[in-house]
Amino acid sequence: MTDDTKPRIDFDPSIRTPEMEMAEVGAGVPDAADLKLTDLNPANPHLFKEDRWHDHFARLRAEDPVHLNEIETAGRYWSITKYDDVRAVDGDWQTFSSAQGMTLGLRPDPDRPNPLVQITPFIAMDPPEHTAQRKTVRSVSAPSNLRNLEPLIRERTVAVLDSLPEGETFDWVDTVSIELTTLLLATLFDFPLEDRRKLTRWSDIVFAVPGSGGVVETQQQKIEELMECVTYFEGLWEERRGGDGTDLVSMLANGEATKDMPTISHLGNLLLLIVGGNDTTRNTMTGSVYGLNKYPDQYDKLTADPGLISTFVPEIIRWQTPLSYMRRTATKDCTIRDKQILEGDQVLMWYISANRDEDVFVDAERIDLDRSNADRQLAFGYGIHFCMGSRLAELQLRILWEEVLARFERIELQAEPERTLSSFVHGYTKLPVTVTRR
Ligand code: HEM
Repeated sequence: MTDDTKPRIDFDPSIRTPEMEMAEVGAGVPDAADLKLTDLNPANPHLFKEDRWHDHFARLRAEDPVHLNEIETAGRYWSITKYDDVRAVDGDWQTFSSAQGMTLGLRPDPDRPNPLVQITPFIAMDPPEHTAQRKTVRSVSAPSNLRNLEPLIRERTVAVLDSLPEGETFDWVDTVSIELTTLLLATLFDFPLEDRRKLTRWSDIVFAVPGSGGVVETQQQKIEELMECVTYFEGLWEERRGGDGTDLVSMLANGEATKDMPTISHLGNLLLLIVGGNDTTRNTMTGSVYGLNKYPDQYDKLTADPGLISTFVPEIIRWQTPLSYMRRTATKDCTIRDKQILEGDQVLMWYISANRDEDVFVDAERIDLDRSNADRQLAFGYGIHFCMGSRLAELQLRILWEEVLARFERIELQAEPERTLSSFVHGYTKLPVTVTRR
């Protein structure tokens, strides 16, 4: 391949993204009560790193449920924080388009290329393109696929749990959550198992904030590593083109709506599936251990009656909400409650806040295995972009807890978790625990 034909991303490394701008503000965000209402900015990634978002969203829901911020890199964006409003926005794709991106984005600038436009995944499209591409991979969550995968997921879960050290502190994030979700993702892609941690790495860097002490130093490094991902998948792509494989790479390489796309354009869909299938379930697995340690009475209840796993799964997905928000962009001037939204404004649907809305979920901060409406949670979104992997994620969580309860008296927290610096991925980087076998 010559340099001219090599896939590349046109990209200006000096671009500062909104998350970089907000990360620069630094740690130590004041309590919500000590800020002027107009100064609340729920997209500040430090709020999540420090686990301080709870009272910020509670105040917004109570006093300013449709809240405007404006920052240099992103321009105007609205935060929607009440359950009914989030559902209404998510359900109206004609007014609130996905086609300008799914996370808080750069202020449009015709003089500077935006690298993301070349690698748009179908989550960042509207019908009819979205409908056609979504169809290409829809069988990933088909009941027959889930039935086929269940024995393999169980076998791997058992192997990972049986290998855990006893009487010794270890990191649940790396040893269990990352290992299990990456193994499954490698299976879905039919990706070489020995290289599976590359999937973890690519997933981690997609939403990493460069230069903030996290996993990448610069935007340049981030783009270079993502290009390694493209090159790697290109090899798999070529091997499988024209074949009848049922893995995700074959589905995209041979799907009617995707087979003729240029290589670089596949990066978007690949990253969507890598992140979609990785960070989300991984952070919910970690959240499930952390959450039950925070509410030990609920842990006792689950241990006494493993039948409650079926209500625990939607409840823990609500409680964790591993993707805090999704973005839409207004296609016309409109109003939400009494606020005037202008065409082109970004609109952030904060699932994490909707899932703590006391008007819908009583005592919403608590994990409650008797909650009757946990399955109304919005962590998988709502409407035409509703998560394609929801059933798969629920299956993984169910099997994990069936096997955990079968072999461990307790998984005990040894220290508070370390958390991800991101307002989009709501997750953990470390959770030290010990296990006691039955
Ligand atoms: C879309 C959450 C697991 C694949 C989404 C959306 C959310 C979400 C919020 C966007 C909804 C919207 O814009 O309205 C989650 C959560 C998960 C999870 C909370 C786990 C607990 C997975 C898994 C996969 C996956 C395991 C794949 C193997 C996708 C795809 C989309 C999507 C492909 C795009 C759908 C579209 O645009 O039509 N997910 N996800 N997700 N998710 Fe998930």
